Amino acid sequence: MKHVTTLLRTLAFQRKLQTLSMSSSVHENVKNYYGSRLETSDDLQTNAACVMPSRPVAKSACEALKQVHPDVCKRYFGCGLVIPEKLEGCTVLDLGSGSGRDCFVLSKLVGESGQVIGLDMTDEMIVSSQKYIQYHQEKFGYSKLNTVFVKGYMEKLSDAGIQNNSLDVVVSNCVICLCPDKRTVISEAYKVLKEGGELYYSDIYASKVVPDSFKEDPVLWGEGMAGALYWRDLIALMKDIGFSTPHIVAGSHIVVHNPELQKKTGDVKYASGTYRIFKLPQNSIKSKALVAYKGTVPDCADCFEFDASHSFKTNVPVEVDAEMAAILKNTRFSTDFNITMLDTPDLNQSGTPQYCHLSPFLLADKLGSSVKQCSKTGR
Ligand SMILES: C[S@@+](CC[C@H](N)C(=O)[O-])C[C@H]1O[C@@H](n2cnc3c(N)ncnc32)[C@H](O)[C@@H]1O
Repeated sequence: MKHVTTLLRTLAFQRKLQTLSMSSSVHENVKNYYGSRLETSDDLQTNAACVMPSRPVAKSACEALKQVHPDVCKRYFGCGLVIPEKLEGCTVLDLGSGSGRDCFVLSKLVGESGQVIGLDMTDEMIVSSQKYIQYHQEKFGYSKLNTVFVKGYMEKLSDAGIQNNSLDVVVSNCVICLCPDKRTVISEAYKVLKEGGELYYSDIYASKVVPDSFKEDPVLWGEGMAGALYWRDLIALMKDIGFSTPHIVAGSHIVVHNPELQKKTGDVKYASGTYRIFKLPQNSIKSKALVAYKGTVPDCADCFEFDASHSFKTNVPVEVDAEMAAILKNTRFSTDFNITMLDTPDLNQSGTPQYCHLSPFLLADKLGSSVKQCSKTGR
């Protein structure tokens, strides 16, 4: 018995070492890819950085996007729009902030009383984003800085000085697909969020589990195709770590331009998906509720499009399931709803997801969205 335990420990240790050495070689490859190999988003081999948002962009986000310096937008490598509603006063962390486009938009939207932290592991990205902090502070008319960029790994947020339970919102745009150890990254995001906080992020997803052979190709890694998660695995992973069910906000097909890469990826298809996911207090999912939206979320006077399947019209009461009731009750949106808890038991209390409503591929099919025109700047 003792031998078996020792053997299992040794195997687990070896597996850990393998993951660590794979992580560090992937990190070096990705740093090189984004730090020196790609000059602008036109150098990417897919349309990822050009996908049109599959839902209307809020007016304030559009205006903030237009104010971002063109040099910052040129090096935008994201695959979605990671700008949730109601950010005034929030503290927001951007995992893998790159040239800082999303951070500067967020800087405008959190206002002078909020704070934005951009985290990236690549020196060139940190240096180039830092160069534009003052430009945006002046553009937004802020008397003090509300944005910082820190060098670090999203797998080790405490090493980068990010405290547990300190953030209202964590965003990320096309970064988690570049990392081999997604469980660690998602667990770190969970730790640093406050209770009621939100993880709102866009990423590349695969239509099936990506074959291991893809992981040996540096370009497939750099483009996010080797590390893309099979979209169904995201849902299990989030629930396992303690997050709510992911709610899909937007989805677009990704087109691989390069014929050589097309051949390599074969029948694996890719889509970008934007999900919103919440860190809820323990045991807060209780019963269904009747909720009426008050029309108070900025930019959403008539209707709050919470996700692709929940659209709350102002002053129109609707019944929601137990998990949605817990989300509306325990997050920054709690003051925007009148909520009456119902006695009717929710047979699906644990929030067991209905997968078909969560696929970025199905949502993209439904909305007919893939590339229409490049929209890096919202202009
Ligand atoms: C595809 S780019 C996206 C950049 C940015 N989010 C945007 O939308 O333009 C990926 C960025 O994530 C950073 N990155 C990748 N893996 C990382 C990790 N494990 N920790 C921190 N940054 C990482 C890279 O250095 C790169 O700047």
